[in-house]
Amino acid sequence: MKAAVCKKIGEVEDITITTMAPPLMREDHLRIRVRSCALNFPDILTVQGKYQRQPPLPFAPGMECAGEIMEVGPKAKGDFRVGDRVMAQPGVGCLAEQVCCSPLSAYHIPDNVSFDHAAGFIVTYGTVYHAFADRGDLKSGESLLVLGAAGGVGLAAVELGKLMGAKVIAAASTDAKLKVCAQYGADHLLNYTEEPIKDTVLGLTDEKGVDVVFDPVGGDATLQSLRCINRNGRLLIIGFASGVIPDIPANRLLLRQCQAVGVAYGSYGIAFPEKARANMTVLSRWWAEGKLKPHVSMIFPLDESVAALNALATRKAVGKVVVHIP
Ligand SMILES: NC(=O)c1ccc[n+]([C@@H]2O[C@H](COP(=O)([O-])OP(=O)(O)OC[C@H]3O[C@@H](n4cnc5c(N)ncnc54)[C@H](OP(=O)(O)O)[C@@H]3O)[C@@H](O)[C@H]2O)c1
Repeated sequence: MKAAVCKKIGEVEDITITTMAPPLMREDHLRIRVRSCALNFPDILTVQGKYQRQPPLPFAPGMECAGEIMEVGPKAKGDFRVGDRVMAQPGVGCLAEQVCCSPLSAYHIPDNVSFDHAAGFIVTYGTVYHAFADRGDLKSGESLLVLGAAGGVGLAAVELGKLMGAKVIAAASTDAKLKVCAQYGADHLLNYTEEPIKDTVLGLTDEKGVDVVFDPVGGDATLQSLRCINRNGRLLIIGFASGVIPDIPANRLLLRQCQAVGVAYGSYGIAFPEKARANMTVLSRWWAEGKLKPHVSMIFPLDESVAALNALATRKAVGKVVVHIP
């Protein structure tokens, strides 16, 4: 099968488009003909050898995809048949024509939704809903600061935050990105390359600070957010797209009487697959009701997988970047 293959740990430019043997399938798994692979920042980290779970070499990156079921293992559980249209989160291997995964990480997709739009639903919306519902206890009426708000998980956080009743401050690096955040319902826009996070947020919240911070960026943005978080606030640690893991000063947590809360959707899904599926049932219902509209800004062919990954690495992506495999 054709695939984008990482043969050595390095940079995304080292990925080659080549053929490799189709993956072996366990008896309790599904084989999917991948039609579309949605990219996530951890795909880059995996190629660089910086992600917490590293697959053995060689591998095709790509955590999640959408496509048709080619084969159902004789011991696979669930209501899956050959030809079903599904989205899935195998964790790795989706930048390829075929991938295998547990039925626990596969979900049917509605007939009227394209593979390109379904491919990136699980990780972005799954992470954000887990962060808000299970980890951050986001309540209707609370204020929410979203950093990196036009990125994959960021834009989903703006959209879900509004849907869950929060007052959303979207923070990003360009006005063009913030314009998309406004279309997704953000109440306030903050360009953090032009204005300080702390002063703007305090100004918008009567000097109290925000109740919840959704932080996929890290670095200085995290430290500034800790200076404008409310009493009983929750700083949701999602990731470090800036490349800098901040050292959180414990006195900040004490002074503002707030919490820093870790969020790890991948390991949550492995430890509690039924809870993750229950969350996805809620999200799928909102999606079917038209309350969620996954934003795909760029679609690349498999041959241009390196350019697709670089769109994320160079901060050009808005919402999701997808690799289409016809
Ligand atoms: N904890 C979890 O379960 C979980 C799940 C999924 C993803 N994540 C993490 O969340 C983060 C975002 O993932 P994503 O897939 O949403 O990525 P993404 O689409 O590329 O978004 C990342 C955002 O971070 C901002 N950013 C700031 N500095 C950056 C830099 N030096 N390089 C690239 N982006 C930078 C960019 O916004 P501006 O240009 O506006 O600053 C960009 O929109 C990653 O760290 C990822 O590992 C965590």
